[in-house]
Amino acid sequence: MAAECFKSLALFFFLLLGLASSDVPYLSQGSSLSVENPDDVLVSANGMFSAGFYPVGQNAYCFAIWFTKPCQDGSRTVVWMANRDTPVNGRISKLSILKTNKIIITDADEDPITIWMSNNTVKVKHPRSQLKLLDSGNLVLQTTTNLTLWQSFDSPTDTLLPGQPLTRHKQLVSARSRTDYSSGKYKLLFDNDNVLRLVLDNPETSSIYWPDSTMLDYLQGRTRYNDSRIAVLDSSGYFLSSDKTEFRSSDFGFGPLRRLTLDFDGNLRLYSLEEQQGVWLVTWQAMSNSCRIHGACGPNSICSYDPGSGPKCGCPPGFKMKNQRDWNDGCEPEFELSCDNHDVNFVQLRHVNFFGYHYDILRNYTFQECARDCLNSCCKAFQYRYFPEDGFYRCYSKWELRNGHRYNSYVGTLYLKLPKSFPYNETVEDFRLNCSDVQTKQLERSYVKKTGNGSLKILILCASTLGLVEMICIFLVLFFLYKTGKSPDALSIMTPSGYHVTATGFRRFTYAELKTATRGFREEIGRGGGGVVYKGVLPDQRIAAIKRLNLEAHQGEDEFLAEVSTIGRLNHMNLIEMWGYCAERKHRLLVYEYMENGSLADNLMTNSLDWKKKLDIAVGTAKGLAYLHEECLEWVLHCDVKPHNILLDATYHPKVSDFGLSKLLNRDSPKGSSFSKIRGTRGYMAPEWVYNLPITAKVDIYSYGIVLLEMITGKNPSVGVPVVGTDGEKWRQRLETWVKGKKIGASGTSWWVDEVLDPGMGDDCERNELEKVIEVAIKCTEADRHQRPSMSQVVQMLVGGIKKNKNQPI
Ligand SMILES: *[C@@H]1O[C@H](CO)[C@@H](O)[C@H](O)[C@H]1NC(C)=O
Ligand SMILES: *[C@@H]1O[C@H](CO)[C@@H](O)[C@H](O)[C@H]1NC(C)=O
Ligand SMILES: *[C@@H]1O[C@H](CO)[C@@H](O)[C@H](O)[C@H]1NC(C)=O
Ligand SMILES: *[C@@H]1O[C@H](CO)[C@@H](O)[C@H](O)[C@H]1NC(C)=O
Ligand SMILES: *[C@@H]1O[C@H](CO)[C@@H](O)[C@H](O)[C@H]1NC(C)=O
Ligand SMILES: *[C@@H]1O[C@H](CO)[C@@H](O)[C@H](O)[C@H]1NC(C)=O
Repeated sequence: MAAECFKSLALFFFLLLGLASSDVPYLSQGSSLSVENPDDVLVSANGMFSAGFYPVGQNAYCFAIWFTKPCQDGSRTVVWMANRDTPVNGRISKLSILKTNKIIITDADEDPITIWMSNNTVKVKHPRSQLKLLDSGNLVLQTTTNLTLWQSFDSPTDTLLPGQPLTRHKQLVSARSRTDYSSGKYKLLFDNDNVLRLVLDNPETSSIYWPDSTMLDYLQGRTRYNDSRIAVLDSSGYFLSSDKTEFRSSDFGFGPLRRLTLDFDGNLRLYSLEEQQGVWLVTWQAMSNSCRIHGACGPNSICSYDPGSGPKCGCPPGFKMKNQRDWNDGCEPEFELSCDNHDVNFVQLRHVNFFGYHYDILRNYTFQECARDCLNSCCKAFQYRYFPEDGFYRCYSKWELRNGHRYNSYVGTLYLKLPKSFPYNETVEDFRLNCSDVQTKQLERSYVKKTGNGSLKILILCASTLGLVEMICIFLVLFFLYKTGKSPDALSIMTPSGYHVTATGFRRFTYAELKTATRGFREEIGRGGGGVVYKGVLPDQRIAAIKRLNLEAHQGEDEFLAEVSTIGRLNHMNLIEMWGYCAERKHRLLVYEYMENGSLADNLMTNSLDWKKKLDIAVGTAKGLAYLHEECLEWVLHCDVKPHNILLDATYHPKVSDFGLSKLLNRDSPKGSSFSKIRGTRGYMAPEWVYNLPITAKVDIYSYGIVLLEMITGKNPSVGVPVVGTDGEKWRQRLETWVKGKKIGASGTSWWVDEVLDPGMGDDCERNELEKVIEVAIKCTEADRHQRPSMSQVVQMLVGGIKKNKNQPI
């Protein structure tokens, strides 16, 4: 079926291309474009964009703008639609420009009915006007004196083109599914507080998921105090919004065609067109873990994320998929349970959480108390989880099961209420979306049946699965390239939607290429972690940091590749991005993005960081490490966390570097947690190394704590703190011992904080925040590794703690 569809589709577009030879440059007042004539397409002067009636389903058309150049298989990329929610039928419908300079789309059943009308921004008396498609992809109605009466850029659908601003009262609305172009449930808009946000906006629920709503906006680099509300992508791939949201495409620079699309899955992605292969490459995306997109799997379902294959939805025991074809509808219970039925079991689901939708948070509850509370309230499940920072369990009774996810690293457990009579299975069933059976769009409006050309109908039906085919096409192309090994530039990482993650992506470099890039390894910018780092300029002009590993070449290339591709697959805003590698004869090199502001160590030395930046670095580094420890497919320990390995980009956002190498450099060691030789740096190393205890993620947490202390005190942990004993004897104390000593000495008061504070730090720090950070640092540097929090707890403590304190009167 797919192959057949593929063929007929190609044929269809071949025909379409053949017919559309007499392109109309513009449409003048009083004339119209008909749905029935395939020639009725407006093409921009540069040929890049086309506008006309576009098939969206069986006998259903929308007036749309698309990129003229099709994907390899002939599918098109639509960038705008006039009537996405009310398609017209394939006969008699047309788009016309009235004498009053209104553009209308009419559908003819018996009498023509107006489906859509332009909302003209400028009203002028009886000018002559023309509808043109500009080179930018903007469809404009202009007078002969070039006065714009209406433009499509003013009413975006799900896509912004370069130069098209998103402003107050405007929003992007996602499509409903890959094949259904009508308005979906995700929006990108300026919120009432002037911050640009991604929101889930369902009739029954609405919530914000980007920027992270559990974290203060300013910690994420946003401001509420610019009310101009304008955001625009330029053609070099740079996006800037008045709330200070900014990003660059990974292939930053003029050249490729780009679009910023709020995809049907709720992720905002920037795409660049790879012209030769005719594929759209994702060069930036808002959410790296699609399970974090609210509503990803629909109510009552559980999302589990695998960086390799993307999000998967599943139903908890006792629930089944509501609509076999669409996870948006989530799961439904296979049982009936009234609120006063106490004849229930609580089924334990480990590592599962449903975010939000609880009654009060009940602190210091026993399991029995929590279960009783759930029985007596009409709750569907409860979450029972230990919080080391409180020292007791918290109980959350859920009245709705939404935003469910399962991470193996998540320490909480969910207890699901099921009737006693119901047989259950503890495993969460992993349903996969049956992609071979994507439904074609069903129209809400009914049409008078008109007899049409049968084979054309099949073609149109096929065309409606365009989105799917587009995906398949991209997949096939990549797969083919990957398989044949023709071009290692084609990355093998796929996002959930099957797109390729970055443009230039992860690739193999030749030694000669890297030698040229670094001009013979001339400019050294760092050392350590098993090699020397050089600055270089890649053939595509990107500046890179190139690390030459001192590996003995005993390691096979396959093994090296397996490790490196694992590292290359880790994708987090607080981890340095690896662009590629080189494995040639004895040479082993890694190519990373270059960070403008060097390392945290450099910056601490020059005292160039204010408190806000330091806090941002503390939180960002913790997030990066938490991702490494807990969210990756493979557990990655860093083993050498120190300021030299925390790099800062142009805006001083931190990215952890040198991760994953501990494994790479310790190939010989037996499996598991024992490392053959001590890794790490004096002053930052956890006691486990010295006492030969098992090495776990807690070694990184210790080192992280030391880094926090170094940022606050300005003292170098490698040399310790000079102290003078009561007997006048001088020696050097470990940094953490010194800080803890000061704290104990102050016996409950808090002025010891001033004693340990870096005198060069200035008065710009919030006292509450500072105390919180020191408290976290002290917990992280506990000698007993079991006493240290996990990295995600650190993030929670920093973010949550700061938020809580903010609300208290000073
Ligand atoms: C047309 O513009 C008016 C005034 O700006 C606005 O209230 C209305 O919602 C717009 N209608 C559409 C369909 O955009
Ligand atoms: C209108 O714009 C076109 C193309 O930009 C230009 O060639 C023409 O001179 C303009 N006409 C007027 C009256 O400004
Ligand atoms: C507000 O944002 C706009 C657009 O990004 C910018 O031009 C302007 O300078 C900003 N205003 C302030 C006060 O930062
Ligand atoms: C927690 O509960 C136990 C038993 O109910 C009680 O003894 C203890 O004081 C409580 N702890 C706190 C911090 O409230
Ligand atoms: C649980 O699932 C397993 C494997 O799918 C099956 O063999 C078993 O019968 C199930 N148990 C119940 C109680 O449904
Ligand atoms: C997917 O759908 C097709 C067509 O309905 C069916 O033949 C196939 O068995 C389904 N696959 C799965 C895994 O359910």
